[in-house]
Amino acid sequence: MVKKARGKVVLAYSGGLDTSVAIKWLADNYKMDVITLCVNIGGVRDVDGIRQKALKLGAVKSFAVDARDEFIEDYVFKAVKADALYEGQYPLATALGRPLMAKLLVDLAHMEGATAVAHGSTGKGNDQVRFDVSVLALGPDLRIIAPAREWGMTRDETIEYAQRHKIPVPVKIDRPYSIDENPWGRSIECGILENPWNEPPEDIYEWTRSPADAPDRAEYVEIGFEEGLPVSLNGKKMEGLPLIEKLNVMAGRNGIGRIDHMESRLVGIKSRENYEAPAAIVILKSHLALEAMTLTRHQLRYKERVAQEYSDLIYNGLWFSNQREDLDAYIDSSQRYVSGTIRVKMHKGNCVIVGRKSPHSLYSFQLATYDRGDLFDQSDSASFIRIWGLPLKIQAQAQVIGFAPLKSGKKSRKDKAKK
Ligand code: ARG
Repeated sequence: MVKKARGKVVLAYSGGLDTSVAIKWLADNYKMDVITLCVNIGGVRDVDGIRQKALKLGAVKSFAVDARDEFIEDYVFKAVKADALYEGQYPLATALGRPLMAKLLVDLAHMEGATAVAHGSTGKGNDQVRFDVSVLALGPDLRIIAPAREWGMTRDETIEYAQRHKIPVPVKIDRPYSIDENPWGRSIECGILENPWNEPPEDIYEWTRSPADAPDRAEYVEIGFEEGLPVSLNGKKMEGLPLIEKLNVMAGRNGIGRIDHMESRLVGIKSRENYEAPAAIVILKSHLALEAMTLTRHQLRYKERVAQEYSDLIYNGLWFSNQREDLDAYIDSSQRYVSGTIRVKMHKGNCVIVGRKSPHSLYSFQLATYDRGDLFDQSDSASFIRIWGLPLKIQAQAQVIGFAPLKSGKKSRKDKAKK
């Protein structure tokens, strides 16, 4: 007699070894019907093959969803407007993808009447936090199962388990790196990279040419922005996804976008992370350059603080929070005049801003010039500086140099001492 399953679980399925093993493991250990969901935010190659594979491995149902545009429009673009860069280095590709995957997982679980969701993250990384916290926020009724956090198998034991259960093990399993990718970036960890002293070998890179092998001739690209978002390349209007994909190719062939980061994980571990993010680096740099032209220095200073808060929040899995939405309201408002064009020179690993223009530019030639046509009245400066510097003058007299504060008719201590 076939035993009745104890409910359904929706598993985020990538087609890789761990989540393939998880299908069998969940069915055996939790006695649940496993429904798989393959979310393509841009890194998945054979979506249909992956869907079929899950059914072969015992999933009762198998779904796939193309979430590439949603990922760019609703996640990546918010990070662009915010200038989000974790610890000043990492454009947050993986961290931005997880909340979207969790959201789609929860939606499907509710649609299918499942009582649990599952994902393949281990217990050491940030991704488990992002999945779990997003599910807590969106589907607090759902149980969360993370097989790889529970099963306690080493890499070799997982392979053994797979072989024992006739789960295909990819031929390239001895590939020494762990990789995650979507259009906003590609991350490479493990293997010899775990020694932070080892220079990353060329074979970790797939999107970028070595700067040494990049063309000798510089390549220029003009990026058009509207209200903080990139909308064109070299004058040609483009949607977000194709624009980013195109720029990944252009910047990548010029050796731009390699990042070697000693990263602080939320769970307390320092990890050595390598990334390739050609489009992200060029877009973020260009966006900052346009903000420098269209925002006042007060806005720029404040926004820099918001950028750090926003980056930490994404990294730490708090995407579905009111705090993020509140910050978005500020960030969106700050982008009203961030429109214009940035000209970028790409050459052998360098990405340099060489031109900028905007209909809302705060730059005034007549104020800035040292040539004829100068409208800035230099005599205004002297009085301004006296008042600007007044606190320092008073402090010097009262505390530092020791003069008596400005009192008319009385001699200062120093004057007295001189006698
Ligand atoms: N360290 C990065 C982050 O925490 C990248 C993680 C990549 N994830 C992975 N499962 N390979 O966002």
